[in-house]
Amino acid sequence: MFISFEGIEGAGKSTALNYLADFLQSRGLDCLSTREPGGCTLGRNLRSILLDARTRNLSGRAELFLFLADRAQHVSEIIRPALEAGQVVLCDRYTDSTLAYQGYGRGLDTDYLRRLNQAATGGLQPELTLLFDLPVRCGLMRAGERNRAEGLMLVEGRFDSESLDFHERVRQGYRTLAEEEPDRFAIVDAAQPPEDVVLQCRSALEAHMRGHEPDETAIPEENEDADT
Ligand code: TYD
Repeated sequence: MFISFEGIEGAGKSTALNYLADFLQSRGLDCLSTREPGGCTLGRNLRSILLDARTRNLSGRAELFLFLADRAQHVSEIIRPALEAGQVVLCDRYTDSTLAYQGYGRGLDTDYLRRLNQAATGGLQPELTLLFDLPVRCGLMRAGERNRAEGLMLVEGRFDSESLDFHERVRQGYRTLAEEEPDRFAIVDAAQPPEDVVLQCRSALEAHMRGHEPDETAIPEENEDADT
């Protein structure tokens, strides 16, 4: 099973991803947690170019192809082998980030981006995408606090310093993508407290598993207390 986590900055994806990985592991499922950009060695190098606030004059297209290069390598080196080995893959950002940020945010044509995503991934799509939705100001405030606390303002702050309008377009873009593919997306109200957010994720995951492969793959109920 392949699950992606999407949303604007500061939406709490990473916290929820770690929680879900622990939850699934406590149920005996082998999980791989990864992210884009930066889930493989090449990607970590690209990440430092893409997110560094000191990266200047990167054209929209150059930015796009760096994200795609990261994705192509990440899929072939990390994601596909893990899925083939039977692991559940939890990925913090994937193809929808490109549609939301480079498409709706930067204004590149989304059909063109879909074709490039298809080429980069060989068509590998998540079966479930959790979209963490919250007001832009709230997300940016959280992301700013986190980056300050972790000393990441400079090295990871390039997108955080985009305009409010940019982030608003990204948020609305994500919501449009979710409307277009309601079977794949589950929207999580990320403005709620973290304990509520993780419960929403868990419910979405359980509903997805019930809906797609009943009985055999339902998450086992034992060890109920192991996930707290
Ligand atoms: P990251 O630190 O992973 O996100 P977050 O702040 O939500 O934890 O930063 C990744 C940034 O890269 C984020 O601003 C979104 C952007 N991005 C794109 O613009 N296009 C893409 O295809 C991907 C994967 C990310």
